Amino acid sequence: MGKDVIIACDFNTKEETLNFLDKFTDVKPYVKIGMELFYAEGPQIVKEIKQRGHKIFLDLKLCDIPNTVMKAMNVLSRLDVDMCNLHASGTIPMMEAAIKGLTRPDGTRPLLIAVTQLTSTSQEVMTRDLLIDKPINEVVMHYAKNAKTAGLDGVVCSPLEAGDVKNVCGKEFLTVTPGVRFADGDTGDQVRVTTPQKAKEIGSDYIVVGRPITQAADPVAAYKRCVSEFVD
Ligand code: C5P
Repeated sequence: MGKDVIIACDFNTKEETLNFLDKFTDVKPYVKIGMELFYAEGPQIVKEIKQRGHKIFLDLKLCDIPNTVMKAMNVLSRLDVDMCNLHASGTIPMMEAAIKGLTRPDGTRPLLIAVTQLTSTSQEVMTRDLLIDKPINEVVMHYAKNAKTAGLDGVVCSPLEAGDVKNVCGKEFLTVTPGVRFADGDTGDQVRVTTPQKAKEIGSDYIVVGRPITQAADPVAAYKRCVSEFVD
């Protein structure tokens, strides 16, 4: 499985998104479409970006009863995306149902990865609000193991957790990691960050990079810098 840089296209409108993608003339980056853009523009935006030749990670983080997730994943599989995700907290039966729904009649399916604990959730909040009193790293690794048991391809995690996930679930189990910043760049609201180069050393398979590319004076140059540090 080749490493790749995924650009988080956190824009509110189709116009802004396509204007941004128009800047890329000689490369077709892998892009992440999240809830804001999907809810604003609907499935058509996914089809349009796909038709332009981009790979797509559809970041909708599903979590519901198994039957509902199975049917929703079935709809997403027809959008021809390359990767989608769900919450591992939905449990193993939900994740198994998701795989079933996502698998196309010809046996192919997009990659399916799980969110373990959101990186916005601290140990304190997890204990207080979710009544989970185990150490957060143990919870993340347990959810990653559940995802593997259910047949998923990997997890979204902090690059700093990627090494542990590989140790627990095997090196083929994918780690998709946001929280990436250039050594000389702003961290913004991300707290636990690392550079593309360091993410490569730790063993991330895909880095998800938003503002360091989308807000750069020269987004294409920033993307190429990520690729040269992380992939090449
Ligand atoms: O702009 P930035 O590089 O911080 O964007 C990171 C992207 O990854 C955003 O789309 C954010 O929602 C997403 N993400 C994250 N942390 C997670 C899961 C997703 O930053 N744990």
